[in-house]
Amino acid sequence: MAQQVTAPTIRAGKGGTPLVMVTAYDAPTARIADDAGVDVILVGDSVAMVVLGYEDTLQVTVADMAHHVGAVARARPRAMVVADLPWLSYHLSTDEAVRNAAVLVRAGAAAVKLEGGRARVPVVQALVDAQIPVMGHLGLTPQSVHALGGYRVQGQQVDAARAVLDDARALADAGCFAIVLECVPREVARLVTEEAPVPTIGIGAGPDCDGQVLVLHDLLGLEDRIAPKFVRRYGAVKAEAVAAVADYAADVRARAFPSDTESYHLSDDVAAALGVDRSASSRTA
Ligand code: KIV
Repeated sequence: MAQQVTAPTIRAGKGGTPLVMVTAYDAPTARIADDAGVDVILVGDSVAMVVLGYEDTLQVTVADMAHHVGAVARARPRAMVVADLPWLSYHLSTDEAVRNAAVLVRAGAAAVKLEGGRARVPVVQALVDAQIPVMGHLGLTPQSVHALGGYRVQGQQVDAARAVLDDARALADAGCFAIVLECVPREVARLVTEEAPVPTIGIGAGPDCDGQVLVLHDLLGLEDRIAPKFVRRYGAVKAEAVAAVADYAADVRARAFPSDTESYHLSDDVAAALGVDRSASSRTA
């Protein structure tokens, strides 16, 4: 049995073989990710848009997240399970943040992720003090969609790039074991990766990070609508699934499914006692 991936394992991965993180939101997707040998499964608040059909990530609650974390954890992956703290679950007080993180840990997460830089230092310290490993998230932070004015590349000007660097240093100093960098220029991600003593995990941040993360449904092609430029589709699962369901529908309508061998049967004596005419069931192949 391969060794369980933990926060110290990930922290020690700085500068080594790139770390692999993908999202998963339920037991089957967790098994897919784990069987593929990823290092980290992120139960992202992207569940809001990817699975639950909302327009943004602001709609999910701690209870929603715990529901999905539990499903992922019950797959018992070797990969480390990291859960997103949803919007407003860590903004009001450090006590409330620790209590909410504990709900996700009790549901099966081995760490939590939160968005934001220096302003989050007290929360990160309180979580680390409660023995909960924390992953940071800088750059495009989707929970700030309204404050940022949309989903845009961040850190493109000198001050903004320096702010990302300062935020990364502050998060690492506060005890984060890794930091997600989302939608920042490749050069900024490289600077942060060189400066930060903890692994950076990029999404739309170029190839120089210590690891990469993608949303599983995007990389599988289970989501086939317009994707940002950083998404590479490694499968066409949506197309394959639509074709499979269409084949099933055609077989049902043609009475080609189920076949006799896919059916249960009475024993001969029960069939005889009921006066069942077995030739009637030979209508299907
Ligand atoms: O929720 C999520 O899927 C994320 C990744 C995009 C990093 O935070």
